[in-house]
Amino acid sequence: MASAEGLLAMVTDRVDPALLDAAPHLRVIANFAVGTDNIDLDAARARGIPVGVTPDVLTDATADLAFALLLAAARRLIEGHEAVRDGRWRTWEPAGWLGADVHGATLVIVGAGRIGEAVARRAGGFDMEIVRVGRDDDLHAALARADFVSLHPPLTPATRHLIDAAALAAMRPHAILVNTGRGGLVDQEALARALGEGRIGGAALDVTDPEPLPAADPLLQAPNLLVVPHIGSATHTARRRMAELSVANLLAGLAGEPLPHPVG
Ligand code: GLV
Repeated sequence: MASAEGLLAMVTDRVDPALLDAAPHLRVIANFAVGTDNIDLDAARARGIPVGVTPDVLTDATADLAFALLLAAARRLIEGHEAVRDGRWRTWEPAGWLGADVHGATLVIVGAGRIGEAVARRAGGFDMEIVRVGRDDDLHAALARADFVSLHPPLTPATRHLIDAAALAAMRPHAILVNTGRGGLVDQEALARALGEGRIGGAALDVTDPEPLPAADPLLQAPNLLVVPHIGSATHTARRRMAELSVANLLAGLAGEPLPHPVG
């Protein structure tokens, strides 16, 4: 580390002042991600180290995954699959395996940036009503209208635990929370309680806090919960393009040139 001049960082790498102090020759940080909450941007700026990211190339893949989670939670796909696999599919039941309608439902998109807008486009195709919530909007009022909520703001000190006990209490008992943003956006203890007490309908998470989420984490005991291992951008094309952008950032930084994809 002491002689490193370039750093290719993963979302699980914490790039903090201690790390930067241990790498005094660092000239560029290329994050293999579009989010930068793993990096102390002020500390990098103070040392004059540019930070590059991988925008756009993962937008559609992540929006696809958000929609896959929404559909899977709404229509209880994992439970149904497990029932079939366990030999519990006995007959066709008129009132069996009932889930939530997606068409016609209201989807609240918190943080309507690139990925949030890509989710909105998909929701339009499913005839959903879309409510966008930006920084200055009344989050709780929007949550009270939601059948589904999809989270997309960047994780910052201001958005940490944006979905806390009060936000969960504002949601209706059938509403489903989808998080493909960052685990820290949600107070997971409050989420586990809300699920356990049936105060919301379900949650489908691609991201958790911490990552990886230990198998013994109490959250995983909650009902109506689906968790996948941070796979929003995990398609062959998106990951290849993320690699290309990261390498372009890295090489430009090492050459002392402006990064082609600097952090915004
Ligand atoms: C992945 O989570 C990213 O921020 O690119």
